[in-house]
Amino acid sequence: MTTFTRRNGMLHADEVALPDIASAVGTPCYVYSRRHFEAQYQRLRAALNGLDAEICYAVKANSNLAVLRVFAALGAGFDIVSGGELQRVISAGGDPARVVFSGVGKSAEEIDFALKMGIARFNVESAPELERIAARAQLLSRRAAIAIRVNPDVDARTHPYISTGLKSNKFGVPLDQAQALYRRAADSQWLEVHGVACHIGSQITSPAPLLQAFDSLLTLCDDLAAQGIELQHIDMGGGLGVHYHDEPEFDADAYGRSLATRLDGRRLRLALEPGRFLVANGGALLTRIEYLKPAAAAGGHSFAVVDAGMNDLIRPALYQAWHDVQPVAPPAPDAHSGRWQIVGPVCESADFLAHDRELSIAPGDLLAVLGAGAYGMAQSSNYNSRSRPAEVLVEGSRFHVIRRRETILDQLRLELEEA
Ligand code: LLP
Repeated sequence: MTTFTRRNGMLHADEVALPDIASAVGTPCYVYSRRHFEAQYQRLRAALNGLDAEICYAVKANSNLAVLRVFAALGAGFDIVSGGELQRVISAGGDPARVVFSGVGKSAEEIDFALKMGIARFNVESAPELERIAARAQLLSRRAAIAIRVNPDVDARTHPYISTGLKSNKFGVPLDQAQALYRRAADSQWLEVHGVACHIGSQITSPAPLLQAFDSLLTLCDDLAAQGIELQHIDMGGGLGVHYHDEPEFDADAYGRSLATRLDGRRLRLALEPGRFLVANGGALLTRIEYLKPAAAAGGHSFAVVDAGMNDLIRPALYQAWHDVQPVAPPAPDAHSGRWQIVGPVCESADFLAHDRELSIAPGDLLAVLGAGAYGMAQSSNYNSRSRPAEVLVEGSRFHVIRRRETILDQLRLELEEA
């Protein structure tokens, strides 16, 4: 998928030249391609062809309302992890009946909200959570549909911070405790047992660990069926990796085929909760170089100080994530060639977007940080009292602002206003 490409040397998002966006909206600014989101969704749909499968977009990856609208229009369901994300889905016109609610810490208030909105199901992560959901359902006189998220103790072979399927991670119910919990759920008149879920991690580059987890879940389904508890679906979570640098592209078709083989002859629905796969490479963070600080002495570092920082895109600082950084325009004759550290204005040494990039650049140049469509804006903050970037959605040859740039007043309002 080639969303950010050069035309006459100038970097474009689909048909829109990135400098046009920078002039209209300013920097830093997130730029997304609707076409890319749609193509990735269709690609995954095609990979699941022939399977009874639902795709629930993981809202946490990029929760802008306009992005949610794109996926709602494609017919996606949604995976949420908070009441706030449920409100976003509703505000975007998404159907609560297509929402699954994951996460280890659902509050009573969030459970009530979800029950009242009639979500599809809760992915339950512990015994006390199951009790709480049953109690809230009873109080509201509604039955709650549930799946139990099991922790299959599978190594997803990804960064430790985004690995979730090991015994040592806080997520899910250990496999050996799951059956007892299902029996408890099946006994409750307030709970409807629908399925089983897992999510073993993120940015997984091969289907192998996912299939290993899937096999454990199938065995659990069989064991439960023998006890009279028939599950209707398996939710495999998200985790499908994308190409940022030198990692292999996740083979979605092979994943789909392997799932189909395993599901053949079974009356089980499949659900997936992809986030990154659908949006990561459809987004770029557009930033402008404020200053160059060439190395004062041999062996020192040369810094390009840009107007986006770790508060705008924290992935490099938090996960040592590698994002491609491309100059938007061809180098000017007076550009400085060298090996640059791309750093932001935040007062932290961890405030970098990229290390050791060979670039020919000058102050005032625009840079595009690619692969920023997932967990970019969604993980941004106001650290250093920096106002968060604008977001722009490109639709072919047109673009529009889907979130205006924050102002300092936006930040101060909560502290200035009377309670
Ligand atoms: N379902 C559940 C229950 C999850 O916890 C997650 C992600 C997903 C689905 C979507 O996973 P994906 O398809 O995007 O891999 N901030 C990190 C990633 C954290 C992922 C957390 N859970 C990063 O920037 O790499």
